[in-house]
Amino acid sequence: MKTSPLLRAESEATLSLETNYHRPFLPHSPKQALNRLFLSELANRYDSEKRQSRVLSQMAEAATCVHLKKLLRLHAWETEGQVMKLQCVFEALEEEVQETCSAVSMALLTEAERITEVFRADSPALNTALVYAAQKIEHDEMAVYGALREWAVLMSHKEAALILEQLLDEEKRTYQSLIKMARFHCNKEALNVFHAEDFYCDKYGHEFAKVRM
Ligand SMILES: [Fe+2]
Repeated sequence: MKTSPLLRAESEATLSLETNYHRPFLPHSPKQALNRLFLSELANRYDSEKRQSRVLSQMAEAATCVHLKKLLRLHAWETEGQVMKLQCVFEALEEEVQETCSAVSMALLTEAERITEVFRADSPALNTALVYAAQKIEHDEMAVYGALREWAVLMSHKEAALILEQLLDEEKRTYQSLIKMARFHCNKEALNVFHAEDFYCDKYGHEFAKVRM
């Protein structure tokens, strides 16, 4: 079985967590402690956005709903821009760009890859499964960008806060689009296709599920 590059990086993610949070560190002030957390999460986000762009493109390629394909492609493209926006955040902070694996993002992206593979083979639930996986990723991103923005404001990093707010807004917009996509296209489509292909009627008009061998 082919091993996903994301799965191969699992040990790297564990290592990153130890590096970020378990390394002995004695901050001189509360602001230094918060700044360390802020930079550590920025580095996680930078790595996650780079990986996410590739996973979203794979999901877009697998999608059979044209509307979802378009949305996933658009967000894959937007995600590439987000990588550059994060570089600008590091620049505004006068810090070198850093990247470390986030175990949570890795788990979500690995799951998205697995869902894409499992449902790719003609499943009527493919598109709704892709939307579900993407929604989980976006939800995590909204939480992270929301916290990063608040910390930037607290520490008076005005320029960084503005860029992080733009990033948060982009993720919120995508999340809302995914909710609409699920509600108005993919969920209903999954059910309709299921009825059309997987049920048959006997001569009395009674509906039965087909048994797949
Ligand atoms: Fe996103």
